[in-house]
Amino acid sequence: MNNLDRRMFLKKSSIATGAVLSASPLITSAFYPNAADEIKVALIGCGGRGTGAAFQALSVKENVTLVAMADAFQDRVDSCYSSLMSDKNPKVKARVKVAPEHKFVGFDAYKKAIALADVVILTTPPGFRPMHFEEAVAQGKHIFMEKPVATDAPGIRRVLKAAEESKKKNLKVVVGLQRHYQTSYLETYSRVIDQKMIGDIVSARCYWNNDGVWVKKRESQMTEMEYQMRNWYYFVWLCGDHICEQHIHNIDVINWFKGGHPVEAIGMGGREVRKGNEYGEIFDHHYVEFQYEDGMILNSQCRHQPGTVSNVSEHLVGTKGKATEGKITDLAGNSLWRHRDKDDKNPYQVEHDVLFDCIVNNKPINNAENGAMATMTSIMGRMATYTGQKIKWDDAINSNVNLFPDKLDWNSLPKTLPDSNGFYPIPVPGKDKLF
Ligand SMILES: NC(=O)c1ccc[n+]([C@@H]2O[C@H](COP(=O)([O-])OP(=O)(O)OC[C@H]3O[C@@H](n4cnc5c(N)ncnc54)[C@H](O)[C@@H]3O)[C@@H](O)[C@H]2O)c1
Repeated sequence: MNNLDRRMFLKKSSIATGAVLSASPLITSAFYPNAADEIKVALIGCGGRGTGAAFQALSVKENVTLVAMADAFQDRVDSCYSSLMSDKNPKVKARVKVAPEHKFVGFDAYKKAIALADVVILTTPPGFRPMHFEEAVAQGKHIFMEKPVATDAPGIRRVLKAAEESKKKNLKVVVGLQRHYQTSYLETYSRVIDQKMIGDIVSARCYWNNDGVWVKKRESQMTEMEYQMRNWYYFVWLCGDHICEQHIHNIDVINWFKGGHPVEAIGMGGREVRKGNEYGEIFDHHYVEFQYEDGMILNSQCRHQPGTVSNVSEHLVGTKGKATEGKITDLAGNSLWRHRDKDDKNPYQVEHDVLFDCIVNNKPINNAENGAMATMTSIMGRMATYTGQKIKWDDAINSNVNLFPDKLDWNSLPKTLPDSNGFYPIPVPGKDKLF
């Protein structure tokens, strides 16, 4: 049966038996394969994470195949395809069935690749996520998308709207905040929240402090658009700044354990070591005090400064004890519990195992709204550090500052441009209005 036939068959048979409809009251156009059916995947964003996510999707089971790839750049499609076709991993190689004409390149490539698949992997820089997520939902596809899910508030609102639509269509959506799929975090959550081992949570800290990431050089033939796209980490419309791109993981954990997002933020940040023009417009450190509805404060820090102390972690203090990933103590520091299992499954793999299980067995899963809230919290932190003002949640999420270029082609101009020496304007707290 082709996909349409299978959908019609499943729709009819589920109406007859009530099987699928009892799991979901909504009639859906989404695809629920029989256990042995081929499940076609398209990869949008063929970089480091996209290649990894494709490996993980193809490792779930033999009938998962990669049928289409899309990237802004030909060389990224080619290098990703070579990695997936490596003889080191014959199982994955056998599941790569991408015809040459199904390798798409350019800004519109995503639409063509999405059309060929049942499941899509969205792993471009996050500035494109709202547009790609909207399209995947409009085309009725199941989705794995990486965090962050946007870089500005208008993007978050688009994701939230598409998330509603994805629920109506009964699409399955997993977001790459993999701590939600990591045993040590899940075990900690159950002890802190279900068993209340640390009592009520009264304060929190979290960190993403390390040396920072790669830099891509400007080549003489590059247009400004290509340069920003290649060196995307350092441009806010593409990356969101590192508070959004990486520290989101830690902020999301605190939101998860608190069961909601903060209501306001104040913060400070700047550039101490990122002096060169190759570092675009982002900060190298942010410190934010987030306040939750019940008054609890989260102290959050992220820093990209080589040679400084590294720390990537989250910490909760309760009325009876303290918790961090895989570890709970009383208030004096005496151990109450420790997670010791060394055989935990790779959470990046678990994300895909869960997604495909939910697709095949029509179980509910939709992380889109949580991904949007975690991303918005990080964006609110950035608004606080860039402006130096107290930022309230409602103002942040309703902000109309739209960072996305008005036009997308290689010769059009992004909204922030360099001076004659290649330096970009850097936000100045007290003066910057970006929020
Ligand atoms: N969950 C995690 O632990 C984790 C780890 C790494 C990266 N990520 C996330 O994955 C995403 C990608 O990161 P990466 O490290 O793979 O970056 P990358 O630069 O290696 O890959 C991004 C790819 O997207 C392509 N691209 C850019 N714009 C595009 C467009 N409009 N259409 C199609 N392709 C486009 C780029 O050319 C590139 O090949 C980011 O959101 C990042 O935060 C998550």
